[in-house]
Amino acid sequence: MTVHTILKMGDPRLNRVAQPVLQFDTPELHQLIVDMQDTMRVADGAGLAAPQIGVDLQVVIFGSGQINPRYPLEEPIAETILINPTITALGDEEQLGWEGCLSVPGMRGEVPRLKHIRYTGFDVYGNVIERTASNFHARVVQHECDHLFGILYPAKVRDFTKFGFVETLFPELFKLETKS
Ligand code: NI
Repeated sequence: MTVHTILKMGDPRLNRVAQPVLQFDTPELHQLIVDMQDTMRVADGAGLAAPQIGVDLQVVIFGSGQINPRYPLEEPIAETILINPTITALGDEEQLGWEGCLSVPGMRGEVPRLKHIRYTGFDVYGNVIERTASNFHARVVQHECDHLFGILYPAKVRDFTKFGFVETLFPELFKLETKS
């Protein structure tokens, strides 16, 4: 089990546009996924993108199949590995919602996201994944895929009265987050 250090906002490796994966089902790719899963699990993350552990590849993981303790009011998302993803808007409806990021520890911000999307990509074996998603599921996918373009959620906050520290904004939630 390898738990990696998660890079924090300000590290230039979080601002790169990630490279596509060219070869699937390699030992290196399998190891990367396992390391990302271990790292995400220990941090109680809703998702993790490879650039957050310093790996310049278009790989994201999200979901655990269970309610995430950092987002206790949101629906569970199936455990997913998504490589070389693309997102297509399904309509132009936006939804405001609170986000956090393991690279921006201790903070939350209200971010507008597309409410309904279709996303495609590949699993670790190179099999095509194609799904539609709405609400929190769509939000998590958009957040993780933004990491592959070097974008962290604070750049998308519109109302900075809705950006701050978890302990101040959500004292009850902060109790669950004392590890971060
Ligand atoms: Ni993030």
